Amino acid sequence: MLHIPSVEEWWRLTDKYPQFRQPSNLTLKEYGYMRLFELIEEQRPKRVLEYGHGFSPTLFEYCLKHGIEIWGVDDHMDLHYFPPKEVWYENHKRILRDQFPGAKFILGQLGTRQDTMKELPKSYFDLVCSVSVLEEIGDEGTILSILKHAGTLLKPGGMFANTHDIVFENPRRSKLLVNWLRAAGFDVELTHREAEILNGSSRYVPWNRALLENPTQAMLCYNLGDLDRMFSGHWSTLFSCVTKAGQAGVAHLISEAAGELDRRNAREIAARDDSERRAVEGGPAGARLRAEITRLEGELAELHRQLATTRAYVGILD
Ligand SMILES: C[S@@+](CC[C@H](N)C(=O)[O-])C[C@H]1O[C@@H](n2cnc3c(N)ncnc32)[C@H](O)[C@@H]1O
Repeated sequence: MLHIPSVEEWWRLTDKYPQFRQPSNLTLKEYGYMRLFELIEEQRPKRVLEYGHGFSPTLFEYCLKHGIEIWGVDDHMDLHYFPPKEVWYENHKRILRDQFPGAKFILGQLGTRQDTMKELPKSYFDLVCSVSVLEEIGDEGTILSILKHAGTLLKPGGMFANTHDIVFENPRRSKLLVNWLRAAGFDVELTHREAEILNGSSRYVPWNRALLENPTQAMLCYNLGDLDRMFSGHWSTLFSCVTKAGQAGVAHLISEAAGELDRRNAREIAARDDSERRAVEGGPAGARLRAEITRLEGELAELHRQLATTRAYVGILD
């Protein structure tokens, strides 16, 4: 499922979760958490992992209140909006670990960090999720490693749900996200209307009704008083919820692998043909062929000469 929220949806969700019905600089994040609450109510996962929670207590509070096992994984990174390392760890303890002893917090990052890989159990979670994390990761290799790692943590059929903040003029990122999710082994089934998002079409959600955040305010909020502008706010968000590969995802992976094998075979055949051609050219057969070509070129030159002479005679007779 791929979804850009509308104002109506925000209104409906804030009816259910009234603590969020207020003016805010964090509209997209609040939407993301409300949408996760609703997903949890619909799908009833027993074990949830939030990666990239930062200092947000929202999902921990919600899950523990509803008797759901909740884990969190995040760590200090040298991002421009991060407080210094000691302050980050102190906030993490004060705002999260001390407040929610029933939750399990891992200091780490999804992706390639070996310590995190060891600490998070595989095929364990029913839901792995994040709010406003993936848009910050620009590099394709890193994003793929995060998605693949998330896939290993999920039980078969488990859900992977994220909000990815967007600006409308760049639908390319939505296409990439869908490709990356598929490459990481998730089933991504899009309805015809959802596929419109990938074209940046306003047929999916009329842009004048889309849920927007004020980019300038978000920029100021994230800059945390820095004098240099480091961050441009986003406009809206893309909510995606996909499942760990069932049959469709496995079929897609197999066809991708088959395609790659075909391409590799074609490259190998071309390389072999090339080296065979070079061997023939360099050996006695090549020498014979070259002599034959020289002879034929001589004959051709002679024929051209005769043709020119004949044409000259015809010219005189005319
Ligand atoms: C914009 S903050 C979002 C925080 C929180 N979800 C919210 O909406 O308030 C992005 C967070 O993602 C975290 N992050 C980035 N890459 C991550 C990764 N590979 N694994 C876990 N967390 C990651 C960062 O450390 C940061 O805390």
